[in-house]
Amino acid sequence: MCGIIGYIGQKKAEEIVLKGLKRMEYRGYDSAGIATLNGGLSIIKCKGKVRELKKLVKVDSKESAQIGIGHTRWATHGEPNDINSHPHVGKLGKLALVHNGIIENYTSIKKKLESEGIEFYSETDTEAAAKLIEFVIESRPDLPMEKAVQLAISQITGAYGFAMIHSDYPDRILVARKGSPLLIGVGEGEMLIASDASAVAEYTDKVVYLDEGELAVISKDKFQVLDANDVELEKEVHELVMSLEEIEKGGYPYFMLKEIFEQPKTIADCMRGRINTETGEITLGGLTKALDKLVDAKRIIIAACGTSWHSALVGEYLIEHLARVSVEVEYASEFRYKDPIIDENDVLIVISQSGETADTLAALRKAKDSGATVFGIVNVVGSTIARETDAGVYLHTGPEIGVASTKAFTGQVTVLVLIALKLALMKGAITKEVSKKYIKALREIPEKIQHILDRSEQMKRISDLFTYAPNFLYLGRTYSFPVALEGALKLKEISYIHAEGYPAAEMKHGPIALIDEMMPVVVIATTDHTNDKMVSNIEEVKARKGRIISITSEENNDVSTLSEFNFSVPETEDFLSPLLSVIPLQLLSYYVAVNRGCDVDQPRNLAKSVTVE
Ligand code: F6R
Repeated sequence: MCGIIGYIGQKKAEEIVLKGLKRMEYRGYDSAGIATLNGGLSIIKCKGKVRELKKLVKVDSKESAQIGIGHTRWATHGEPNDINSHPHVGKLGKLALVHNGIIENYTSIKKKLESEGIEFYSETDTEAAAKLIEFVIESRPDLPMEKAVQLAISQITGAYGFAMIHSDYPDRILVARKGSPLLIGVGEGEMLIASDASAVAEYTDKVVYLDEGELAVISKDKFQVLDANDVELEKEVHELVMSLEEIEKGGYPYFMLKEIFEQPKTIADCMRGRINTETGEITLGGLTKALDKLVDAKRIIIAACGTSWHSALVGEYLIEHLARVSVEVEYASEFRYKDPIIDENDVLIVISQSGETADTLAALRKAKDSGATVFGIVNVVGSTIARETDAGVYLHTGPEIGVASTKAFTGQVTVLVLIALKLALMKGAITKEVSKKYIKALREIPEKIQHILDRSEQMKRISDLFTYAPNFLYLGRTYSFPVALEGALKLKEISYIHAEGYPAAEMKHGPIALIDEMMPVVVIATTDHTNDKMVSNIEEVKARKGRIISITSEENNDVSTLSEFNFSVPETEDFLSPLLSVIPLQLLSYYVAVNRGCDVDQPRNLAKSVTVE
């Protein structure tokens, strides 16, 4: 949450910072701001999107600064308004600071500084950090600036990614990380800092990821990274593989639509080099280091949040069904606080698109502290979760920028299929022949998704009829149950319609009371072995005048003939059906949201990458 960018070099800092903010806007978009040094410190900030800020910032070659930091905000403390926007400044107006995270002891810091005569103007936690750091720099002239900053931040508890500039030190940007991601983009005679690689990809393909407790001093041609004990570190410079095409809309009106339509390619990329149709073998290089732990595990725990938690549920069905290993799925936020029973014999898989979700990261650390082996299924290369897990598999689906997750979900399910098949083979739960058959079915998935996307107009027509429905119910059984949850989540997050996903049989235990002629019920009936049961559930809905929209496989006439509206997806193995049935649900939510005039890529109150609790 919150995007941070900074630039130091010879180019126009305002232009680069604004561009970076635009690229990171999906991390938070209730207000934005920029601070530059050009003689003195100049700050411009306002409520609203980056385009509002852009109107206020002059990008003029004569007056341009060559050092600046910027921020796009997702409010935690204090409503989104001009005053609460970042950057925040110290009392003397020398230090400007932007922050991602939550400062837990900000009230006590504030009280202490107020007793020193320092006045506060905002309701934010961040202002306390800005005031404190400037105050310590001023009161300890005997210390080099970075030492004073370190001393100040040692008094701060909570989570932070900080970037700051100071008018007495116009040759440097300082950044510090604890709990919120930050990286340095290393250029020729210029450096960038950002919370997200997409903001620096246009300028450099060399990045350095900061680790917990590290502080970096960045000037235009060098950087120095110190750990919490002030020891200078040798940091590895990573190659960033990210094309501009991947982070631009490429002619689509929204990133979400682009990402939905990319899925035939992203799933193919996810499988590439990992499956062998001749031998039935699965190769997952990232698992090798700890594969024996996975194979020997008596049970596997999967922890995640949101859409990734829905993938985890599909993973439970997959691993139990194919590999016959018991799986427990946990909300990462519950797992971390519930005193879980976990030890060195256990295996935890964490799933995260961003690789930065605070609760998922905490679940990972908790499991590691208990001696368990932790695997990651992550999209963002080099993210914290990817770096802290013992082993893992990347999705290779490219940057996901639409706040509503789409291609990451299908990428996660694809990776879980591969893991389940690999485990099943290693444990002798399936033969190579069966694996070959399944791999063949998996290879056909991208083409089948393309076939669904080619009929997206049909889903648009259905969406047009239900745009103003106040509620939706989504029902599914077995593999289609997590898809029902995911369909409901997509609809509520981008169109603000209340929607619930339920296991179809559970409907009778409560939600059936909601059904009347106003209630669209989306039935996902793509798993052959439960279709008869779904027919009975549909009859129960129809008897109460509920309106059935069904997603079926092409040959499922029993359900389609009973439905008011039907969208069919190609036949596949039951365990692969989520990869197909979720696509029309993504389209349904997208078209409904567009019809309602919602901002699909930046839905209210949400942000990609939830780095706070
Ligand atoms: C829903 C969505 C969120 C995320 C959740 C976890 O469309 O995007 O529910 O799935 O915040 O995020 P990651 O996967 O980055 O850990």
